[in-house]
Amino acid sequence: MSSVATSSTVMIDGRIVPAERAVISVFDRGFLYGDSVFETLRTYGGVPFALREHLARLQRSAERVFITLPVSPGILGEELLRAVQTQGSPECYVRLSVTRGVGLSLGLDPGLAQRPSRVVIVTALSPLPDRMYAQGIAAITYRADRPGESVGASDAKIGNYLVAVLAMRAAHARGANEALVEDANGRILEGATSNVFAVFGSTLVTAPDTTDILPGITRAHTLRLAQALGIAVELRPLPKAELTAADEVFICSSIRELLPVVRIDERAVGPGVPGPVTQLLLRAFRESTSQL
Ligand SMILES: Cc1ncc(COP(=O)(O)O)c(C=O)c1O
Repeated sequence: MSSVATSSTVMIDGRIVPAERAVISVFDRGFLYGDSVFETLRTYGGVPFALREHLARLQRSAERVFITLPVSPGILGEELLRAVQTQGSPECYVRLSVTRGVGLSLGLDPGLAQRPSRVVIVTALSPLPDRMYAQGIAAITYRADRPGESVGASDAKIGNYLVAVLAMRAAHARGANEALVEDANGRILEGATSNVFAVFGSTLVTAPDTTDILPGITRAHTLRLAQALGIAVELRPLPKAELTAADEVFICSSIRELLPVVRIDERAVGPGVPGPVTQLLLRAFRESTSQL
């Protein structure tokens, strides 16, 4: 049977390896402790979207957790392009991970690991159904602290995604597609694996990147599009009560682009259908990616 573990193109430490034999040691600290950083991105017509930004974020994530990238971001980018070309699909899902590698012993001390591992996985993208963009999705709110928060690395994309995994599980159990994470102060700063925007009248609001969010590449691109379209933007954290009373809400991420949220905790957002500002931005986003 075809699965991601057989149909993907995999590159480990710069070498393409058959997917079914693409293995990392059980002693790798990425496996043992989630001691790793990563990026998820996608291609349009075979071209990775915002590759430079993703590589810059990977480098920053690595610095935050004191992992030295094994090769320069430029070489990582070249390797990633080679893996994308080998895979051959125009629309790909790409994951680039760097782990701290194998330690000399099982101890936690990061100094025990001398050689970080790098892995690129490229797989044909299964796009979300059009219906989700046309009709919007349901989301839940989910109270949690992000794993990076307590160690001052909220803006790093670190390997430990257990909070997001459990938040997504809770969302699916309630028939929803995303969990909007509520912090200790009752604010919704981002989704389990997305950034969150709300629209009040014609003003777009999202949490500033000085709060505990992963500064999304799609979020940054959306803000630039909003500016180009003359849409007023406010960067401020959104209390849950305010978010749920917004006229429009959408989430965004590299894989899902901009996705309207029409229900939160079983209650309609605005009239319960994707709103005009969301649709305008989604159209603009797709136009910009079609020009790659
Ligand atoms: C916690 C979190 N926030 C935001 C995002 C969106 O980031 P990007 O637009 O760079 O994909 C993601 C993506 O996976 C994420 O995991």
